[in-house]
Amino acid sequence: MFDIVNFEKFSDGRGDLIPLELGDNFLKTSIPFEVKRFYFIAFPNDSVDIKRGNHAHHNLQQLIICASGSFTLDLEDFIGNKESLFLDKNTKGVHIKKGLIWRQLKNFSPNCVVLVFANQHFDEKDYIRSYQKFKELSYLQMKAKKLS
Ligand code: TYD
Repeated sequence: MFDIVNFEKFSDGRGDLIPLELGDNFLKTSIPFEVKRFYFIAFPNDSVDIKRGNHAHHNLQQLIICASGSFTLDLEDFIGNKESLFLDKNTKGVHIKKGLIWRQLKNFSPNCVVLVFANQHFDEKDYIRSYQKFKELSYLQMKAKKLS
């Protein structure tokens, strides 16, 4: 469902520098796919009750990083396996692989900044925004796997 990717950090009295290299030509490529898009999310001070995500994707891969503060990333795959990841390190990325995976982001600290790299351009058609639809598609996928 996901992998953890650890980044190198160059820290001194001036702060932390965490380089992420893109493309295949680097010896140490930090991002495990070709990046087509990235975005970041910042939060208001009163952010503790905010929930984001609440969707799955048909094809998208993402690398999700907590660049500042902390939050919780909840994942559920098509079999019903659930993982709850507490992210508070700017040197750690969660690579969500291709497949039916429901994600929710929650419990944001006020200074939280979430950075997301994606392997596809934005396409609303790739989203599954209804949990019921996600469960229906998951059931079909499980049935297809049992038959094959
Ligand atoms: P939304 O899917 O609600 O964000 P999240 O999954 O974090 O809760 O996206 C909010 C809006 O931003 C929605 O109108 C779609 C738009 N959007 C883009 O235009 N490009 C993007 O890359 C993303 C992720 C969202």
